[in-house]
Amino acid sequence: MQLQGTLHGRTALVTGAASGIGNAIARAYAAEGAAVVVLDRDAERVQAVAAQLGAAGAHAVDVTDADATKEAVDGVVAAHGRLDVLVNCAGILTEVPLVEMDVATWDRMIDVDLRSVFLMTRWAAPHMVAQRWGRVVNVASQLGLKGGESLTHYSAAKAGVIGFTKAAARELAPHGVLVNAIAPGPVNTPLVDGLSPDWKAAKQAELPLGRFGDPEEIAPTAVLLASDPGGNLYVGQTLGPNSGDVMP
Ligand SMILES: NC(=O)c1ccc[n+]([C@@H]2O[C@H](COP(=O)([O-])OP(=O)(O)OC[C@H]3O[C@@H](n4cnc5c(N)ncnc54)[C@H](O)[C@@H]3O)[C@@H](O)[C@H]2O)c1
Repeated sequence: MQLQGTLHGRTALVTGAASGIGNAIARAYAAEGAAVVVLDRDAERVQAVAAQLGAAGAHAVDVTDADATKEAVDGVVAAHGRLDVLVNCAGILTEVPLVEMDVATWDRMIDVDLRSVFLMTRWAAPHMVAQRWGRVVNVASQLGLKGGESLTHYSAAKAGVIGFTKAAARELAPHGVLVNAIAPGPVNTPLVDGLSPDWKAAKQAELPLGRFGDPEEIAPTAVLLASDPGGNLYVGQTLGPNSGDVMP
């Protein structure tokens, strides 16, 4: 990505930054001049990514851990004096028919893909409100809008992220904090590699564009939402770089 310095002077915290879309967003933010702090549960990879990026910090944290996430967010503010942009990108995906889904599988999905977004935003928002400027970018999914077969838990979590985004946006916009979501279509990452070949073939056939995206094709949307003036009028929106899978 061409360096334009769009995010110069901003401090950003990106969850799920060790892989896929979160990693591409962390790289794009760093290329745009932000001080990027990376967070992921994968300790070894988060350190490696931080070294590659010249990141401003790295936290090996599980996003479902209320105490550890608070410590990480407060740690960013203590180290950098501010937190401007939070990207909630950490997530999991499993493929289980509804009639076979056990309760633990459902609960884990809601914890990782939805509750984490509440936790991270809950801890970050007071700092952003105090500085009267902030951006929260939640990575949802187009499946939160249209649903997906064998993905009731994932679709529900991502629909929850979209609803949370709208409510938080209404509450925080008057304080200068803009909350938005990105709902990507299928993107070539390790997350999707784990789905069955049948699911992937059927999905590809549904797409007007006829192909999955790459993480580098999602990251610029996250740059836009974090940027000033480009992102200034987005409030509670769900942007859809999704190969045409959903046209709301
Ligand atoms: N790939 C797609 O097709 C696609 C489409 C729409 C939305 N998304 C969403 O994009 C986000 C990123 O997905 P990806 O495709 O880049 O996947 P990925 O597997 O490449 O990356 C996910 C990252 O999240 C981290 N993570 C998972 N659980 C965690 C936890 N409990 N605590 C901390 N970190 C955790 C993983 O270690 C990994 O580094 C997810 O929220 C996913 O639902 C992906």
